[in-house]
Amino acid sequence: MTDLAHTLTSHLAAAFAAEGLDPALGAVKRSDRPDLAPFQCNGAMAAGKAAGKPPRAVAEAVAARLAGIAGIASVEIAGPGFLNIALTDDLVAARAQAVADDARAGAAPVAHARKIIVDYGGPNVAKPMHVGHLRASIIGESIKRLFRFRGDQVWGDAHFGDWGFQMGLLIADFEDRFGAIDPDGALPADADARLAAVTLDDLQTIYPEAAQRAKDDETFRDRARKATTRLQSGSVACRAIWARYRALSMAAQKEDFHALGVDFDLWKGEADVDPLIPGMVEDLRKQGLLVEDQGALVVHVSGGETKKKKLEDGTVIDAPFPPPLLVVSSEGSAMYGTTDLATIVERAKDFSFDLCLYVVDQRQADHFEQVFRAAAIAGYAKREALEHIGFGTMNGPDGKPFKTRAGGVLRLADLIEMAREKARERLRADEIGSDFSPEEFENVAHKVGIAALKFADLANFRGTSYVFDLDRFMSFEGKTGPYLLYQSVRIKSILRKAEEAGLKTGPIQIAHANERTLTLALDAFDAALASAYDKRAPHFLAEHAFNLAQAFSGFYTNCPILPEKDEAVRASRIALAQATLKQLALTLDLLGLEAPERM
Ligand code: ARG
Repeated sequence: MTDLAHTLTSHLAAAFAAEGLDPALGAVKRSDRPDLAPFQCNGAMAAGKAAGKPPRAVAEAVAARLAGIAGIASVEIAGPGFLNIALTDDLVAARAQAVADDARAGAAPVAHARKIIVDYGGPNVAKPMHVGHLRASIIGESIKRLFRFRGDQVWGDAHFGDWGFQMGLLIADFEDRFGAIDPDGALPADADARLAAVTLDDLQTIYPEAAQRAKDDETFRDRARKATTRLQSGSVACRAIWARYRALSMAAQKEDFHALGVDFDLWKGEADVDPLIPGMVEDLRKQGLLVEDQGALVVHVSGGETKKKKLEDGTVIDAPFPPPLLVVSSEGSAMYGTTDLATIVERAKDFSFDLCLYVVDQRQADHFEQVFRAAAIAGYAKREALEHIGFGTMNGPDGKPFKTRAGGVLRLADLIEMAREKARERLRADEIGSDFSPEEFENVAHKVGIAALKFADLANFRGTSYVFDLDRFMSFEGKTGPYLLYQSVRIKSILRKAEEAGLKTGPIQIAHANERTLTLALDAFDAALASAYDKRAPHFLAEHAFNLAQAFSGFYTNCPILPEKDEAVRASRIALAQATLKQLALTLDLLGLEAPERM
């Protein structure tokens, strides 16, 4: 299944070769001037230079060789030697038919499927999930679906943050509430019962209070640090507290993910690699990579690069960059980088992955550089098999990362409810769903709300930060999730009516400008997928969905479907609408959007 640009490229490459020129110069792309012709080839300029001929003469010779090739309607030479290529309606129709007949709607699978892990979401247990995790979840989910759709074997892993200092905070807090525990023994029965009685609501106040105390009270902070180490060194009592809080919090986070339409194959956390850490530390030591540094154990990862660093006393030094990876803290505990490194060891063993993608906030770029280099130095994974897919922040109107009015991080569950409420308002304002049952109305509001949030995020290149503006996200006009859902529902409804009227589809024929434009939009799917895949950037898919919806809109306005009198034309248009729906639904699914049946 090749798209039109590839079909044309093969003809142009042959023509260039026949002229004794580099066939690679025959590359054809979508035209920058679609008003002149839909496709163009700019190879004559470079070919002229290489062959010492005027580019226009080269272009003319190539154009002459293209005369009479089926599918090419005309080749015109513009400016210094641009080749503007127009297609016959037969070729356009054949392409539309191929997309219509293909279960993958015109998308080619990758030539070599790989084993890929996508590490995304990454919420921290006990802490509420915040909007920073929103982007990781939305972008990661889309990347996972995209890689899977293109044929790779993919595992999505939530990689819960469940082995760090926040767990020590909860243990220290627990002792203050319910009495000291024996770190070497099990939890006493009464403490066990108290722990079982803690609810999620309790946890939502316990954690922020403990975090605040750790800031204000050095003794408490110290106890929390020690508790973290005790937990990690296998204290049964600490484990019991940890397990209870973790389970409570993970259950709530699973619900948040579910509401967001985000699902993982592996619901693993940092703690899962705990058993691997002693062996890994031993291995690093044996390899001579572990270095003592102020009581801690680190791995040096800088290849001689340095960065200016200001010390506490104000002097500026050239410090190694990236800084060494902290493997064992001076307290003896495993750190964020330790669990990440051990997770690479585990993933290599369990999945022998070819590529591991970490969809995490751009602000963690240095952390990943440290971890990836350490993994490569230690021989746990190839450097190029590890990739950090960073992203910018979702900002408030002040241009800073989005906060609640009280200045705190907004919880994901609250954000989702906010979006749902705005969707309800919008639907009511447009009198959509006034005849729906309350359940159906809620279901549509949910889908519209989530689509608004997700699409607004995915429509920008992931590296770009954007401003949270629910009114704009929720609009039914312009580049928004609700607009796309609306378009897809509209096509569904047309097709439903066609079916009710007993109207059939038939072979696709192209005669109208809007039929051509729609087919060209359908034809762009594969290239959009390839760009999104290669750059790990779902905005190419968002862009495609929008272009396709717009092309359909123009088609629908100018090319009557159901009212069309000519039976063959009508059947062709129904087939085009079907192909569009299939491809739009696929694209929306890759973005993680779900369209309702009607709205
Ligand atoms: N829990 C981390 C955080 O909230 C994100 C985890 C990202 N994944 C990873 N393998 N480090 O910042």
